[in-house]
Amino acid sequence: MVGEEGVVAVVVREFDAKKDSSAVVNLEGRCEVGPSGKLSLFTDLLGDPICRVRNSPAYLMLVAELVVVAKGENHVRSEIVGMIRGCIKTVTCGKKFSRIPNNNNPLPLPLPLPVYTKLAYILGLRVSPTHRRMGIGMKLVCKMEEWFRENGAEYSYMATENDNKASIQLFTHKCGYSKFRTPSILVHPVFAHRVRVTRRVTILKLSPSDAETFYCSRFSTTEFFPRDIDSILNNKLNLGTFLAVPKGLYSAESWPGADEFLASQPESWAVLSVWNCSDVFKLEVRGASALRTGFAKTTRLMDRAFPWLRLPSVPEVFRPFGLHFLYGLGGEGPLAVKFMKALCGFAHNLAKESGCGVVATEVASGEPLKLGIPHWKSLSCAEDLWCMKRLGEYYSDGSVGDWTKSPPGLSIFVDPREF
Ligand SMILES: CC(C)(COP(=O)(O)OP(=O)(O)OC[C@H]1O[C@@H](n2cnc3c(N)ncnc32)[C@H](O)[C@@H]1OP(=O)(O)O)[C@@H](O)C(=O)NCCC(=O)NCCS
Repeated sequence: MVGEEGVVAVVVREFDAKKDSSAVVNLEGRCEVGPSGKLSLFTDLLGDPICRVRNSPAYLMLVAELVVVAKGENHVRSEIVGMIRGCIKTVTCGKKFSRIPNNNNPLPLPLPLPVYTKLAYILGLRVSPTHRRMGIGMKLVCKMEEWFRENGAEYSYMATENDNKASIQLFTHKCGYSKFRTPSILVHPVFAHRVRVTRRVTILKLSPSDAETFYCSRFSTTEFFPRDIDSILNNKLNLGTFLAVPKGLYSAESWPGADEFLASQPESWAVLSVWNCSDVFKLEVRGASALRTGFAKTTRLMDRAFPWLRLPSVPEVFRPFGLHFLYGLGGEGPLAVKFMKALCGFAHNLAKESGCGVVATEVASGEPLKLGIPHWKSLSCAEDLWCMKRLGEYYSDGSVGDWTKSPPGLSIFVDPREF
């Protein structure tokens, strides 16, 4: 197109770390996540623009470059004005039932087995505030979907706050996505004091291989469960999988291993894993009034000075802060909610030792264990909107049918690599 400045074109191309890193980091720093105008969340990628996708099995980052050929000059000027990241992996989209006969029982009860699909995820879509409503966001999404299709992805999804009108309009009205799930992001501040953890439970740290056995046995039919769970559990950002059992049942020394535990499990137990997002990115809340920041500072000073009072202080979220993400939350039995609360307290204290600002998790809106996850409403998001699209009509419907039309389950597995 020809603008006042001369000939202008927007080129979408693959991100080049050597050439584009500083421009992309700069742009990220200028783009709020979610709607602008009120308190906004900003991300500091710690100098690594692909940090939020690099742990996925397949990923791509694209940038939109504005190229201007100045009128009457040979001079060409270019500027990065947008970006998008995407990744692809195999996840559970539903379950089927199968009877696997054995010598003892030729007609056993039907066993739920996972049905997998290749799923793509769009994240980190940003367009420079000075270049919005020019079709750049849509161009980036379309180009990313081309790569998804070329790599065999059957579905594509994205997550956004349910008040991010620009993003929702773009995906649902222009790109064919439909509203799919509304999980809750639950955020708890990390206090300056340690929180009390009930003494009625024993918390055991599972080895990555025990954790894998555990998750594959209990969660493999949960929506979004990643087939490469082993690479998550063995990633250096994974701080561990923790299991809460009734006090005295096992100690680290007497732990019999996941297989034996699952074969004769206690009436109640709960499990979660901790992912260290602090080493990947930092967050910052901007746009708060002086009154609000002043109040937060005062509560913090009091909490630091008198930790034994256990004052619920506001962490320093008005400057860059790190977080731990809790994932793979599950449990069974009448005390599962209590055990989950104990695990969350344990995770809080772990985050405090690491200097994090908050602990966050994301669970299905109907998750029964939600009651055991302490969080502050003011920091949380009751409905994180996930929108999904089927990328091609040529896929067979299989035993699940069109996943975009399936009803939600009680739980979902939120991949920590994508938070
Ligand atoms: C969301 C965002 C990427 C849109 O980028 P963009 O380049 O302005 O989008 P486009 O120009 O391609 O817009 C395409 C369509 O999206 C919708 N849209 C975009 N911005 C909108 C807005 N502010 N209000 C309502 N609809 C909007 C419109 O339907 C628009 O089509 P139209 O201009 O023909 O009406 C951009 O606003 C942004 O970077 N926001 C901050 C970061 C963010 O929230 N990212 C999304 C996280 S998933």
